[in-house]
Amino acid sequence: MSKNDVVIVSAVRTPFGKFDGILRTIPSFDLGIMALKEVVARINMDPKDVDEVYYGTCIPAEYAILTNVPARQITLGAGFPEDNISLTIDRACCSSMTALRLGYRAVKAGDAEVVIASGAENMGNVPLIAGAAKARWGNRLGPIELEDVLFELGYGRRGFAPVATDAGHVSLEYGVSREKQDEWAVGSHQKWHRAYGEGKYKIGGELMSIKVPQKKGEPLVMEKDESPREKLSAEKLSSLKTVYESPTVSAGNAPGLNSGASAVVLMSRKKAEAMGLTPMATIEACQAAAGTPKYMACVPAQTMGKLLDRAGMTIDDMDLIEINEAFAAVTLVSLKMLANDDPVKWQELQDKTNVNGGAIAIGHPVGASGARITMTMMYELIRRGGGKGIAAICGGLSQGEAIMISVG
Ligand SMILES: CC(C)(COP(=O)(O)OP(=O)(O)OC[C@H]1O[C@@H](n2cnc3c(N)ncnc32)[C@H](O)[C@@H]1OP(=O)(O)O)[C@@H](O)C(=O)NCCC(=O)NCCS
Repeated sequence: MSKNDVVIVSAVRTPFGKFDGILRTIPSFDLGIMALKEVVARINMDPKDVDEVYYGTCIPAEYAILTNVPARQITLGAGFPEDNISLTIDRACCSSMTALRLGYRAVKAGDAEVVIASGAENMGNVPLIAGAAKARWGNRLGPIELEDVLFELGYGRRGFAPVATDAGHVSLEYGVSREKQDEWAVGSHQKWHRAYGEGKYKIGGELMSIKVPQKKGEPLVMEKDESPREKLSAEKLSSLKTVYESPTVSAGNAPGLNSGASAVVLMSRKKAEAMGLTPMATIEACQAAAGTPKYMACVPAQTMGKLLDRAGMTIDDMDLIEINEAFAAVTLVSLKMLANDDPVKWQELQDKTNVNGGAIAIGHPVGASGARITMTMMYELIRRGGGKGIAAICGGLSQGEAIMISVG
C-alpha cells in the first residue's frame, strides 16, 4: 500500500432500462446527472472538491439533438461549479472504462486530486436522422429518408461489418458454438436472478434508485434493472433467428439496446485519508489496446494479456473476472484465449467470470458499461472480504480497455 495508490471511494449506477422501457425518452444527459449527483452525495463530498470529470458516451446522435459537450452539460446540470473541468470521451463501448483509465492517470501523475469517471447512454432515445446532403441542402426530387444509427450501429456505412456478424464468424473460428453462446446467455440471466435474490443488487450498493417523470401523476420509482428475463428456455433461445446475417448472434445471446448511467470517484489514498474516506478498492493498473477490426471478440483477452504481462501476473492470480457480454461470443472467445484453448482451464475461468450476471441480462447502455462492470466486480470482491479482479471491455472496430483492482 502506498499513499500514491489510486483508490475508488464511491461507485454507483442507475438501474439499466430496456430499449422500449420506462427510461426510453429520458436524455442520457439526465441519467448522467443522476449518477453524478448520487456518487458525490454518497460520500458527502462537495462537488467543488472534484477536480475533473471524465464522461464516456458512444452514440453522439442521441445527445446531438440537445447540443454538444455532454460532459460539460452533466457537470453543470448536476450543480458542479462552473470552474470544474470536464471531458467527453468516445471510445465506443470502452468509453467509461477509458474514463477510469484517464482518471487513474491524472491522479497518479499528480495532475488532479479527485476525479470522477462516468458514462451514460440512452439507446431508446436515439433519434432517427436525416442526412444534410438531402435535408439541409435540398432534395431536388424524391423522398427524404430517415437513417437509424442503431441499425448495425452504423458500421456498414463505412465498409465494416456489423459487430454481431464479426463476433459470430470469429466465435466459430475459435470453436465456440451457437449452442455454447446460448447456454452462456441463459446463465447470465440465471446468475443475475440468483444475485438479485441474495440482495446483491439492492439500492445503496451498486444501484441507486431513480425517479422517472411521467406525463401525468407522480414520477415512477425505478429500483431494478429491466432487462433480466424471468422465463428462460435454452430451447426457445436456440430457435431465435440470428441478426445481421451473423452465424451465431441472436437477440437472446446479445445484450439489448439499453439505457443507464454509472459514476465512480477516484482519488489518491493520501487524499482519501485526508478527507476521512474509506477506500473501497485500489486500482492496480489500467490498459488500453486495439486490434484487427473484425476480431473484436479477441480484444478483451488481448488487453487483459497486456495488462497482466505488465503487472507480472497471470489470469490465475485473479479471484474474479468481468468480460463485458458485448455478445456471449465475446466473453467466451476471450476466455478461451486466456485459457490457451485448454478446455478444463476454460471452464475454470468461466466459473469466475461475470458471477452475478452480465450485460446480456443486466443490459449494455454502451457508454456506461465499462464503469458498470468494474463496480459490479468491486462490490462482489468487497462482499467476499477482499481479493483481486480484472475487468475488460471491447469497443467498436476492436478497441479494448482493461482494469485490475484489489480489495482489502
Ligand atoms: C440483437 C438486437 C438487434 C435485437 O433487437 P430486437 O429484435 O429489437 O430484440 P427483441 O428484444 O425484440 O428480441 C427479438 C425476439 O427475441 C426474443 N428474445 C430475446 N431474448 C430472448 C431470450 N433470452 N429468450 C427468449 N426469447 C428472447 C424476444 O422476445 C423477441 O421475440 P418476439 O419477436 O417474439 O417478440 C438488438 O438488441 C441489438 O442490436 N443488440 C446488440 C447491441 C449492441 O450491438 N451493442 C454493442 C455491442 S459491441
